[in-house]
Formats: sequence, C-alpha cells, structure tokens
Amino acid sequence: MKVLIVTSTPNKEGLTAACGEAARQGVVDGRSRARLINLNDHNLLRCAVCEDGWGPCRTKHRCRLEDDFGELQTMFEEAEGIAWVTPVYFGEPSEAMKAFTDRLRRCEAMKKDGSKSVLEGKPVVCVAAAGGSGNGAVHCLAEMERLVRQLRGTPFDYIPVTQKTREYQTETIHDALVAMCKPKAAESTMPISARKGQSRSRKPRRRIRRRKPNE
Ligand SMILES: Cc1cc2nc3c(=O)[nH]c(=O)nc-3n(C[C@H](O)[C@H](O)[C@H](O)COP(=O)(O)O)c2cc1C
Repeated sequence: MKVLIVTSTPNKEGLTAACGEAARQGVVDGRSRARLINLNDHNLLRCAVCEDGWGPCRTKHRCRLEDDFGELQTMFEEAEGIAWVTPVYFGEPSEAMKAFTDRLRRCEAMKKDGSKSVLEGKPVVCVAAAGGSGNGAVHCLAEMERLVRQLRGTPFDYIPVTQKTREYQTETIHDALVAMCKPKAAESTMPISARKGQSRSRKPRRRIRRRKPNE
C-alpha cells in the first residue's frame, strides 16, 4: 500500500513531527511505501472564494490558484491510504491544514457520477498532537472526522496525543499504521496456496520499555 503521511508544523523536532515519524515507521514496518510531507514546507494560499462562491473547484475539481495545491492533490490521488497528523491549535487543526483541506473539500466533495474523491474508499488515520493540557484534542479529531466523511474516506483510527501520552501514543500511531497496511481481511482468509507471492504480515513491533524494580 502507498501511504501519504501529511503533517503541518513549523517544529521539526516537536510532537507533530514525532507522530509523523511514528506513522512513517509503521508504514515501513507494515511493508508498505511511505511518503511523508509537511504542509508548512509548501506554498499554500487560502481559498479565494471565486465569483459567486464557486470557481472551477465545483465542476472541474481543480483550483484556480497557482501554488502547490495541485501537486498535493495529485499526491492524494496517488496514495492508497492516508495518515493525517496535525498540531492542535485552539482546539482545531492547524491553519496550514485548514487552508489546504478547505480547498481540497471544495474540489473533491463535489465529485459525483462515478468520479471518485481522492479519499474515496481509502483508509485514513487521523492524529491530533496537542500540548500539555490536551484541551481541544477531541474537538480537533471531531473536525477531522467530519472532513474524512465529507471526502468519503474510510476512517481507520482517530488518535489524540499530548506531551503526557507521547510515549505510548506514538506506539499506538505506529501500530495503527502497521495494521492499516495489512492485506485486506478477504485476502488474509485466502488459503495459503492462493496467497502465492504475498508476504505474511508481521506482528506489530513493540518498543515497550519495562521499568526496573528500583526505578
Ligand atoms: C497557536 C497555538 C494554539 C494552541 N492551542 C492548543 C490547544 O487548544 N490545546 C492544546 O492542548 N494545545 C495547544 N497548543 C499547543 C500545541 O498543540 C502543542 O505544542 C503541539 O505539541 C504542537 O505541535 P508541535 O510540537 O509540532 O509544535 C497550541 C499551540 C499554539 C502555537
């Protein structure tokens, strides 16, 4: 499976980056191909709300603005699964994530008559990386859930992470991506003889550190 991991943070060493890296490692351990991008590294304008409210997003499913949006839209099209990782700002996804998804929703949610959204039927893991309080992490995930449904993605998991839960929740992200990359249930119930050429899935790698008695 080709998995696109989308983060949006200015901090290369922060929690969002750590969650993105856990997702990337999960995809690799799930014997799949990972592509990790950070929306903050891209030139993304906000929606121009063309004409009476709609531009070519409605009919042509493309945005008129000239920036990196089209290239990113193609990356979503090429992916077979998505991991969406955002920092929590004011209980919501980041501004970079919202600027991008506002436009993606306009282009993709209006597709019909056999034309598929770039998320349609694809498994999606959403991660909200919050601060110490964790306030608004669940609200942020609820907004992401709404977006996944509007784009007709297939929710796989929603994971809140805070500084306090970082150690075990980055493991959860890793394991969620390993599980997401597993061959579909139908394939795994095939007789062994019919699975020629298919690799057997490994158990998720655990990195749990046991406490020493005097710690
Ligand atoms: C503008 C702004 C708003 C924030 N709002 C929240 C919030 O509502 N709830 C929360 O738990 N943390 C909040 N935080 C903290 C970030 O979610 C937290 O630092 C997170 O780890 C950011 O990811 P990063 O490590 O990639 O920078 C906020 C941070 C910023 C900069």
